[in-house]
Amino acid sequence: MSDLELLSTVPIFIGLRSTDLEELHSHMSKRAYSKDQIILMEDEFGDTFFIISKGSIKVTRLSEDGREVILAILGQGDFFGEMSLLDGETRSANAISNDNCEVMILKRHDFLRFLEKFPKIAISLLTELAGRIRKSDQQIESFALSDAEQRIGVTLLRLSEELGTIHKGVVRIKKLPYQQDIANMAGTSRETVSRMLKLLEEKDFISRRAHTLSILDYTKFRNAFM
Ligand code: CMP
Repeated sequence: MSDLELLSTVPIFIGLRSTDLEELHSHMSKRAYSKDQIILMEDEFGDTFFIISKGSIKVTRLSEDGREVILAILGQGDFFGEMSLLDGETRSANAISNDNCEVMILKRHDFLRFLEKFPKIAISLLTELAGRIRKSDQQIESFALSDAEQRIGVTLLRLSEELGTIHKGVVRIKKLPYQQDIANMAGTSRETVSRMLKLLEEKDFISRRAHTLSILDYTKFRNAFM
């Protein structure tokens, strides 16, 4: 898929005419990262907006005691870097490549100009941001749960939305993040993740093969953990 074709599938740009997409594309540059590279850092001043054209990134912050907390995993077609451009504050979090990934970059000036020129983009951006707040609310709620199984269940539901594909009620998450990353999303330890995944497998909620995790009955799983 060419970068221009990809831009036409990015949710916040859907509905733009091809000439507008071409104009947008002409203002974008591209960068590639290998796994675990820092794309942007918390507390730096930001001047760029990013669209992921290949691979995935994780959005993280460091807790007081130095642990990595994963706020989100974003994949192809998702954007990041908008917050500091909108409020003029420093970057709210780190963005780190999760695998070999490519991003398309728009400078602040062009990003703000496009938002003004195409209110549709601004509305789609707000819709996406509302979705992110909802996910963060769920994450905060799940942190309050003392039950480790429940926390891991909520985290797997989140990963299903971010990375999964559904077919006949079965959700497949290919390239499941490392157990340490799942622990950093759920606010628990790697050992607890390992124990809980085994337990969920024994209860026939999930199955695992190589790096793929399947939720065997998504509706049942949702009802059990939401
Ligand atoms: P910005 O603050 O410029 O830089 C860090 C980026 O991480 C931020 O913009 C958002 O794009 C992204 N980000 C921060 N918090 C979250 C979150 N809870 N969910 C998804 N993305 C986030």
